[in-house]
Amino acid sequence: MCGIVGYLGNKNALGPVVDGLKALEYRGYDSAGVAYINSDSCTVIKRVGRVETIEKLVDKEKATPHLAMGHTRWATHGAPTTVNAHPHFNHDKTIMVVHNGIIENFQVIKNRLIELGYQFATETDTEVVPHLIEYHFKQSGSFEDAFEKAVSELEGAFSIVAISSLALGQLFAARLSSPLVLGVGEDEFILASDPSAIMEHTKKVIYLEDYELAIISKKGYKIRNFKRAAVVEKTAEELDFDLEHAALDDFPNFMLKEIFEAPQTIKLATLGRIRPKSGTVKLGGLVDVKDKLKEVQRLIIVACGTSYYAGLVGEYLIEELAHIPVEVQLASEFKYRFEPFSPSTAVLAISQSGETADTIAALKKVEGRNMLRLGIVNAVGSTVARMTDAGVYCHAGPERAVASTKAFIAQVCVLAEIGLHFGNGKIRDRKRFLQELDSLPKKAEQLLTQVDKIRQIAEKYTRFSNFLYIGRRYGYPCALEGALKLKEITYIHAEGYAAGEMKHGPLAMIDKNFATFAIAPDCQVLEKVYSNISEIKARGGPIVAVATEDNRQIKKLVDDVIYIPKTIEQLNPVLVAIVIQLFAYYAAIKLGKNVDRPRNLAKSVTVE
Ligand code: AGP
Ligand code: GLU
Repeated sequence: MCGIVGYLGNKNALGPVVDGLKALEYRGYDSAGVAYINSDSCTVIKRVGRVETIEKLVDKEKATPHLAMGHTRWATHGAPTTVNAHPHFNHDKTIMVVHNGIIENFQVIKNRLIELGYQFATETDTEVVPHLIEYHFKQSGSFEDAFEKAVSELEGAFSIVAISSLALGQLFAARLSSPLVLGVGEDEFILASDPSAIMEHTKKVIYLEDYELAIISKKGYKIRNFKRAAVVEKTAEELDFDLEHAALDDFPNFMLKEIFEAPQTIKLATLGRIRPKSGTVKLGGLVDVKDKLKEVQRLIIVACGTSYYAGLVGEYLIEELAHIPVEVQLASEFKYRFEPFSPSTAVLAISQSGETADTIAALKKVEGRNMLRLGIVNAVGSTVARMTDAGVYCHAGPERAVASTKAFIAQVCVLAEIGLHFGNGKIRDRKRFLQELDSLPKKAEQLLTQVDKIRQIAEKYTRFSNFLYIGRRYGYPCALEGALKLKEITYIHAEGYAAGEMKHGPLAMIDKNFATFAIAPDCQVLEKVYSNISEIKARGGPIVAVATEDNRQIKKLVDDVIYIPKTIEQLNPVLVAIVIQLFAYYAAIKLGKNVDRPRNLAKSVTVE
C-alpha cells in the first residue's frame, strides 16, 4: 500500500524523504514522486515505477532543500501513470499535496471547483485537494486556515501532507482513517505513514489521530482537531521498533526471514502471558475489561485475508476453551450486514498492520453501541489498536513481506491465550494445553530443519496450474490459508475447501492435472480425512499431505508427505502454518516470483 514521507529540518530534506520511501517500498506501489521547495519555488519529480528512478532524477537536480515530501502510490482512482502519480498541485504549482487513501466525496468537490473555473490534469481523487486549498486561500489569505478548511470538507480515508510556496518553511499534515506519524528529532521533523521510515532519525513519535492536523515549522509543531476546530496537546512517545529487527539479516528476502522467525514469534506471543504450572494465562491488555469479558455471551471476529483465517482457527479454539459461541466474519461483509447485536456480543478485530480499511470500517460500525471491542494487532499504536477498548498485541515485530506468515502464527497463539483467559472451557487439562503451547518454539525449530525436504516437494508441484487445499476442523482454516499463500505468491490458482465438501462438487475437478494439498495431522477426524484423500486418489489426483510424525499409514495414501512434530489438535495450525508457508515460498522461488512484493498486492490495504 502507498507511502508518505515528509521532512523539515537541518539536513538536505531529499535524503530522508527518498530513504524513507525506500523503507516503505515493501508495502507495494506502482509509482513514486517527491516535491520540494528551494528558496521560494516548488519542484515536483514523479514517475511510474520504482523509487530508485526518482532518486536518480533527484541526484541530477543537485538541490539541497530543507523542506520536502514524497509518496509511493497504490492507485485507486486513475491508472498508474506519471501524470496520476503524486505529488499533485494547483495550476500555479504553489501548492503541493501527497495523499494516502480515498477521498470518497472527490467528485462533488471536483464538479464544484470546475464550475468555479478550476482545471484538472489528472484522473485522481487526490487532485481536488491542492485546488480546494487554493480556493480557501483566496477566501482567507491564510494558508493554515485554508488547509484546515479544505481537509474539513473531505470524506473517506486520507493521510495528507502539503507544502506550499505560500507558506514557506512549513509542513502541513492531516489524517482520517489512514495512518500518519510525526517523528520529533533534534532540530528536525519527519512525517510518515509508517514508523519504519522514521526510526533511523528518531524514536520520539506522535501518532496523529483521526481528524487531527499538524502544522510543522522549524519552531515546532501545532496539532489541531479539525472536526472540533480545537487545539490538541500531544507529547511524543517512544517508538518500540528497532532497526536490526527490521533488517533483512542474511536472508534472501523478508518472507523467508519471517517464516524462520516462527519459534521466536511463538515465544514473543506467549512471553510473560502463559503459566503452565498453574494452568493460568495473564493478558495485561485485557485487565481493564475483565468484568465486561465475563458478560460476553457471543463473540464476532472480524478480519481480512490471513487474519480472517487465523480468526477461523480462533473460532474452534475459543468455543472449545471458553465455551462461547464464536462467529468469524469477513470485515468487508460485516460492515454491510443488517444483523442484530446485543450488549453481550463482543467484537474481536484481528489485523497484523492495524491499518486495514475494511477492518477499521467494521470497528467503526459498532462504535457507540455499548459493545466490547477487542483487538489482536501486531503494529503497536496502529489505528485498529487505538479503536478498540482492549486487546492483545502479537509482539511479532515488523512483518515486511506482503504475504503474512509469522503474524498468522502469533495470532493463533494469542487466540489460544484469549480462549484460556475467558476460562471455563471444555479443555479440562489447561496445564497440559499450556505446556504444549510452551513447547511449540522448540517443535517449530525442529520442523524448520526439514526445510530442504519441503523445498524439494514444493518444487515438484510447480508444474500444476490448479490446486485444492483440503482439511477438517482445525485443518480447514489451514487449508484456506495454505491456498491463499500459494495463490498470492506463485499466482497459481488454489482453492481451500472443507474436506467434507469434496463430494459435494469439487471432486469433479480432480484428475491427474489437478493437485491436492491435504492437511492431515493427527486429529479427531483423521479417518474422515483419509476417506477424502482416497476419493481423490481414486480419480488419479496427485496429493501432497502434511501429517504428524510417525504416521506411516498416510504414506500409502498420498504421493508426498511432510511431517510435523506431534502436538495437540488445537495447536496443529501453528506447525502446519510453517509447512504451508514454506511450500508456497519454495514454489514461488522456483517460479521466479517476487515473494516479498507479489504483483497487484500491497502489505497494508488501507482502502476499502
Ligand atoms: C496475507 O498473506 C495477505 N497479505 C492479506 O490477506 C492480509 O492478511 C490482509 O490484507 C489483512 O491484513 P491485516 O492483517 O494487516 O489486517
Ligand atoms: N486515491 C489516491 C490515488 O489513487 C491515493 C492512492 C494511494 O493511497 O496511494 O492516487
